[in-house]
Amino acid sequence: MERGRFITFEGGEGCGKSTQVKRMKEALESAGRKVLLTREPGGTRLAELVRTLLKDEREDPPCDRAELLLFLAARAQLVRNVIRPALDSGVWVVSDRFSDSTFAYQGYGRGLPLDVLAIANDFACEGLRPDLTILLDVPPEVAARRMREREQATNTAADRIESAGEAFHSRLRAGFIELARRDPGRIVVIDASGTPDEVWEAAWKSLKRFG
Ligand SMILES: Nc1ncnc2c1ncn2[C@@H]1O[C@H](COP(=O)(O)OP(=O)(O)OP(=O)(O)O)[C@@H](O)[C@H]1O
Ligand SMILES: [Mg+2]
Repeated sequence: MERGRFITFEGGEGCGKSTQVKRMKEALESAGRKVLLTREPGGTRLAELVRTLLKDEREDPPCDRAELLLFLAARAQLVRNVIRPALDSGVWVVSDRFSDSTFAYQGYGRGLPLDVLAIANDFACEGLRPDLTILLDVPPEVAARRMREREQATNTAADRIESAGEAFHSRLRAGFIELARRDPGRIVVIDASGTPDEVWEAAWKSLKRFG
């Protein structure tokens, strides 16, 4: 049985990840693949509980190290119980965020040391890395506008991490770009300021590497 491929979408808030992962799942299924869609943090019962803690706890917000370890706990559970078994059985896995978000948010964003993150993250994932990572890059003002529109359309408020300041979000964006510069064989950067169709076209093209 041929192992499935592992594709992740990354980028800051409002860049269009959730929009594009759905398209990716549909397109791969149309091409005859079995596909599992996951999101981070989440994707198992335990990991979804951790997600709620991470997004909503404002009375006793996690300190930076606790935040890191909560993300990694959720990821460990998702990799062990969901992602790895799926890949082993030939299913392609598409994830809305994965390890690069840890490096961008907890490393470049919060300032935790990248070498510690690398070791801790590899431990959590048992060394699993994506075969392809699609980084959706948008200028902060475009992302902010999309987030505002989404909040109005869905009548929801920004969560704890989304409401971190502008300086944090610009460190994030630069951090993601730096990650892509360091690992160009895995991470493809796509300008995500175009229409959903334009972004999708570029995302689909990046799968050519799989033949
Ligand atoms: N290319 C695009 N052009 C304009 N609007 C878009 C585009 N892609 C997504 N949107 C809209 O922008 C909002 C944010 O998109 P989406 O939820 O896909 O982003 P996200 O990266 O998943 O955000 P988050 O990190 O908060 O989960 C949504 O309302 C979506 O419909
Ligand atoms: Mg999303």
